[in-house]
Amino acid sequence: MVTARRSAWVPHAVLIAGLLVVLFPLYIAAVASSDQSAFAAWVNAGMPTGTCTTGGGGGGGGGGSDGGTPDAGSPPPPDPLNDPPTCTSSSYWTSGNQGSSRMHPGVACIACHLTNGAPDFTVAGTVFPTGHEPDDCNGSAASGAVVTVQDSTGKTASFTANTAGNFYGTASLTFPITASLSFNGKTRAMATQVSSGDCNGCHTQSGASAAPGRITLPP
Ligand code: HEC
Ligand code: HEC
Repeated sequence: MVTARRSAWVPHAVLIAGLLVVLFPLYIAAVASSDQSAFAAWVNAGMPTGTCTTGGGGGGGGGGSDGGTPDAGSPPPPDPLNDPPTCTSSSYWTSGNQGSSRMHPGVACIACHLTNGAPDFTVAGTVFPTGHEPDDCNGSAASGAVVTVQDSTGKTASFTANTAGNFYGTASLTFPITASLSFNGKTRAMATQVSSGDCNGCHTQSGASAAPGRITLPP
């Protein structure tokens, strides 16, 4: 009898073990697929510190609380400086060298003016909404952006971009200068000291002399 019982018990143990081997991975997979998306969402949200809801049977913890700073935890917005080449406004300067405050957005203003009897600017350039806009494309979306330069004596001068994105002025400055840009309460700065106020000479479509591209609105 003992041997008979043993011989009956052993197949049952094998069967139960076999069921566990089959069912356990299915259980893991079922839990994992529902929890994976919740976990991914939490990671994508910048892994906010969750506040566990009380009285919810212990199931809470998904929703993060920002603790007073509205954007804490959300990823920084993409930098338009890295956008692919495009003319955001889809509108272009088409009047050649006819003198205008809106002329040739993106083209080096001072270099041309020096050879044309055109006005002498100490600072001139164009602000664009993205980093790689083509010459003569209107930087309309940057209208109202304020460019401030600081010269080597600490003197500052500010210029406001017009509806083409162009800015310019004749303030007397001691070079080299640094520059910054502000728009809608956000800023972007050039820490590099430059000895030319012809901003578009370096801030070409793809960027010259180590400039990253256009003078671009802050993200
Ligand atoms: C390829 C040459 C060229 C480029 C590039 C150029 N300009 Fe001019 N600009 C001229 C010439 C030439 C005149 C004088 C035209 C005239 O007297 O009718 C002029 C005149 C002007 C005037 C005076 C307009 C007036 O009403 O008298 C302004 C302002 C001006 N340019 C701004 C700019 C700005 C800002 C840029 C750069 C974004 C720029 N220009 C780029 C050639 C150029
Ligand atoms: C001699 C070349 C040169 C000239 C001229 C120049 N820049 Fe720059 N600029 C650079 C370089 C290089 C960088 C990247 C390094 C840095 O941010 O300091 C840069 C970065 C910037 C940035 C931050 C990134 C961006 O593209 O928006 C701003 C804003 C800027 N420059 C504004 C200006 C303004 C305004 C002028 C004209 C007054 C100007 N720059 C003239 C070379 C130049």
